Amino acid sequence: MKRVLLTGAAGLVGGVARDELRGRYEMVLLDRQPIPSPTPEETVFLGDIQDAALVARAMEGVDAVVHLAGQPTEADWDTVRDANIEGMYVAVEAARRAGVKRFIFASTNHVIGYYPRNQSIDEHVTPRPDTRYGVSKAFGEFLLRFYADKFGMSAVCIRIGTLRKPDAPGDVRHLSTWISHRDFGQLVRCAIDADVQFEIVYGMSANTRRWWRDSSASTLGYRPLDDAERFASQLPEKDDVDEVAARHQGGVFCSWERDG
Ligand SMILES: NC(=O)c1ccc[n+]([C@@H]2O[C@H](COP(=O)([O-])OP(=O)(O)OC[C@H]3O[C@@H](n4cnc5c(N)ncnc54)[C@H](O)[C@@H]3O)[C@@H](O)[C@H]2O)c1
Repeated sequence: MKRVLLTGAAGLVGGVARDELRGRYEMVLLDRQPIPSPTPEETVFLGDIQDAALVARAMEGVDAVVHLAGQPTEADWDTVRDANIEGMYVAVEAARRAGVKRFIFASTNHVIGYYPRNQSIDEHVTPRPDTRYGVSKAFGEFLLRFYADKFGMSAVCIRIGTLRKPDAPGDVRHLSTWISHRDFGQLVRCAIDADVQFEIVYGMSANTRRWWRDSSASTLGYRPLDDAERFASQLPEKDDVDEVAARHQGGVFCSWERDG
């Protein structure tokens, strides 16, 4: 059984990943917040992702890391930098030193948020981040590209669209970006087990209204089962957002902090 370190295990995506991975892998969980109801089969490390000594101990004997710990939305620079740049570096360097074979990174669609909605894009486009948060995730992708080329580390960056609790899209934009819990679980299992070197994939279900074309995800063996469209009749026809948000893939992340 592969040993998998899940960082950010106490969070929303971490809880879903934990449910989807348990039983298939030997789980090591890390978070700075208490992790709900750990089982005897799970090993828990409590502390900050910037704590290099703690992260080194958590990496011992690990085959794959699923790195979710971080600042999950826009924030001031110090907050974004500490968690997503300094913390990312600590996690990736600790993985290299421990000889971890596969690094799976929770990137975001906000790496490409300024692409317009009428443009279908693939995983090779130049990043167009819509926030400091998006910039920090682009840094994470580039850091892993560097570690793959320089040190031969194998990595999969998942540009997660929208994963929610409840497990359903909450607005019209999500009809394009949503990923169901079971599809996310399948995608992470593929990312752990597939025979690849470096891939960037979009973390989305088989949504009728998707904007992203993605051959990497199918290379991993990912075959999504869900489509956000089945929720469309429960949502309004249009989101009540400003013109900039409505025009771009990143939605309101694109209009925050603009003067007009
Ligand atoms: N939910 C989504 O739709 C979505 C979309 C794109 C990307 N992501 C990414 O997925 C990851 C998880 O997001 P989420 O929605 O579950 O957010 P969340 O806030 O529920 O979970 C984040 C977890 O990381 C932990 N954490 C944060 N900073 C830490 C630090 N410095 N050290 C240790 N632990 C720390 C938090 O305690 C929390 O449990 C994030 O990296 C986020 O950017 C999520």
